[in-house]
Amino acid sequence: MGCGQPPGHLKDLAKRKGILFGGAIGPEELSDSTARDLVLRESAAITPRNALKWRTLRRSRHDWSFAEGDAIAQFAQTNDLKMRGHVLVWNPIENMPDWAVDVPHGAAGRVEAQSLMETHIERVCAHYGDRIASWDVVNEAFEPYSGDLAPGFFKDRIGPEYIELAFHKAREAAPHAQLVYNDYMRWSDKYPNHHKGVLKLLETLRKKNIPIDALGIQGHIGKYSGTENDAHWYGFLKEVTAMGYDLLITEFDVRDFARAPDIGSRDANVAALAKGFLDITLSFPELKQFICWGLSDRWSWFRQSEPREDGELQRTAPYDIDLKPKPMYAAIAAALMAAPSRDPATI
Ligand code: G3I
Repeated sequence: MGCGQPPGHLKDLAKRKGILFGGAIGPEELSDSTARDLVLRESAAITPRNALKWRTLRRSRHDWSFAEGDAIAQFAQTNDLKMRGHVLVWNPIENMPDWAVDVPHGAAGRVEAQSLMETHIERVCAHYGDRIASWDVVNEAFEPYSGDLAPGFFKDRIGPEYIELAFHKAREAAPHAQLVYNDYMRWSDKYPNHHKGVLKLLETLRKKNIPIDALGIQGHIGKYSGTENDAHWYGFLKEVTAMGYDLLITEFDVRDFARAPDIGSRDANVAALAKGFLDITLSFPELKQFICWGLSDRWSWFRQSEPREDGELQRTAPYDIDLKPKPMYAAIAAALMAAPSRDPATI
């Protein structure tokens, strides 16, 4: 392996500490034998990257497209992998199918939007049942600068209560699943209001006895390299766990923006960011699941969304596009070996 002998596969290093490790996958990985082998070698859990989103499941108003999700669920079941569900409710209108814009606002629209949301949760949770052990019930509900709940399909038609309604319905429809609020709170101190908004939400949900088990930390780090604030991040996680929430890293990757011409320096920068973030975040025994948003650069979402200034492909995952391990792989391994042991993930 390119970065020295690996101390062991990531899923095994994680398991020794009671952490479930894995990666997001899609049809891209399933249709490539070397990618499948990589996923199986390193992962004890998987998350469908896009298969369980509204735009995939609900291409038309009355038809349901479970094929992509079923192929991933079959892969997980065949290989004894835990499966996370992503995502039951994602508010921004651009994440809803095109036909959703026809749902009106106002009293009638509120009834229709709530019925649409609850029927969706019921149907998708019933379809997968206990094959999905942990659900991202609501994703990215905040406007990160203000810390206010963001506008969007459900917020605009149902109101802020769409969040607790979603969790109530998810508990009813998936009684054995871990229920997660998932968001991209940052290690950086550039977004203090985002952290405050999430803390207020988690506190309110607890006070109202809303069924929710954990906070999903997406972990897309490195965009604001240089503004990392360890104390701020540690303090945020301390407040979340003090409310009795478990933690997950749900979508880990590291932006590769360093203005270094050589790959060695860029990879070293990414590895250092990974280790710094993980040393803090994995220090919480409440963190029992750790999912990378893809194990290889080959299917990184950054290929489409965030090209580097120099036009080079970002190198954001533990393995490169040729499925060779990178220094980030060693950094993740080192962070897992340094992490305190915890009761094994019970999902
Ligand atoms: O499947 C269609 C295809 O039929 C069509 O031809 C093509 C061109 O329009 O689009 C394809 O769908 C794309 C889909 O990925 C599958 O590749 C969507 O346009 C594209 O928007 C979608 O991007 C995904 C994005 O979420 C939006 O759902 C990214 O792959 C995925 O990595 C990204 O992941 C999100 C998490 O869900 C939430 N947290 C942030 C994270 C990164 O944005």
